[in-house]
Amino acid sequence: MRILVTGGAGYIGSHTVKELVAAGHYVVALDNLSRGRRAAVRQAKFVRADLADQKLITELLRAEKIEAVMHFAASSLVGESMQHPAAYYQNNVVNGLHLLESMRQAKTPYLVFSSTAAVYGEPTETPIPEEHPTIPTNPYGATKLALEGALAWYSRAYGLKYISLRYFNAAGADPEGDLGEDHDPETHLIPLVLKAALGQLPAVKIFGRDYPTPDGTCIRDYIHVTDLARAHLLALKALADGKEPAVYNLGNGNGYSVLEVVQTAEKVVGRTLPKIFTGRRPGDPAVLVASAAKIKRDLKWEPLYSDLPTIIETAWRWHKKHPQGYPKERKIT
Ligand code: UFG
Repeated sequence: MRILVTGGAGYIGSHTVKELVAAGHYVVALDNLSRGRRAAVRQAKFVRADLADQKLITELLRAEKIEAVMHFAASSLVGESMQHPAAYYQNNVVNGLHLLESMRQAKTPYLVFSSTAAVYGEPTETPIPEEHPTIPTNPYGATKLALEGALAWYSRAYGLKYISLRYFNAAGADPEGDLGEDHDPETHLIPLVLKAALGQLPAVKIFGRDYPTPDGTCIRDYIHVTDLARAHLLALKALADGKEPAVYNLGNGNGYSVLEVVQTAEKVVGRTLPKIFTGRRPGDPAVLVASAAKIKRDLKWEPLYSDLPTIIETAWRWHKKHPQGYPKERKIT
């Protein structure tokens, strides 16, 4: 199939591009490189553009005869979204609507959308099923939920075929070592722990030890980025086979506390790491664990790298080999 991947130079987008190309698809990776890394896109055609440029996107869909879009391009930091909701509505909702309009004009039938566990807000049950109430507690979750709503109405009115994937905590790196996680700023737990292991940070900060969990630290459901990427291919195949639009959680269904993550990382890197306990990070729910039963049942998705040591090992291999992340692009003046 001919596929446009927005945000194709980002962490999850680039891993998905790799899987798509390996499966024989023709891929155009689009990214404005505000957060993405040009060096993360290897075998696919790369277009540097912004979704705000709707005319360009429509022309690209037509010129490349795109049949499906995977939409990763978005702002995705909870804390940042609390400070800059306007930017999140602009990038995630307004630009998302531009993309839907371009697809409508170019008659592109299929969309796989990157959604998030943040649409649920504070969980009322664990593991969280897709039917759980969606009451986001931050603009990031609210903007992803807003676009999910638009997808449902576009589907009903214009026949858009879509699958929305609600990611829990994406982690790890390409098991072949080609790709990894390189955010600036980095806010995610596993890369920060590994940066501490590389001596780039003085200590691992642990946000809160008074949560109602067995060891007092937050519990999350970590899913390997390649397993996440593979789910996108299954979603696309299901759509092409005539599946009705749907929403799926993507997690492993296993929760690990922050302390368990740090202790597992210590085993992987072979030494203990300095730790500092600090206060809670605002907006962090105590426990976020997915029920992944629906995607396993409907799409026959099964994780290949579900255990935490493997997830952290793949990340560690990449961080050791790329301590400064991807080679930085030359400044464009
Ligand atoms: N944490 C620390 N120290 C750090 C960084 C994180 O203790 O230096 C803790 C956090 O408080 C949290 C856990 O580690 O309990 C995981 O934090 P991450 O920042 O790695 O991930 P989040 O759970 O905050 O974010 C994920 C996704 C978001 C999504 C969110 C839903 O990355 O896209 O879940 O709440 F919105």
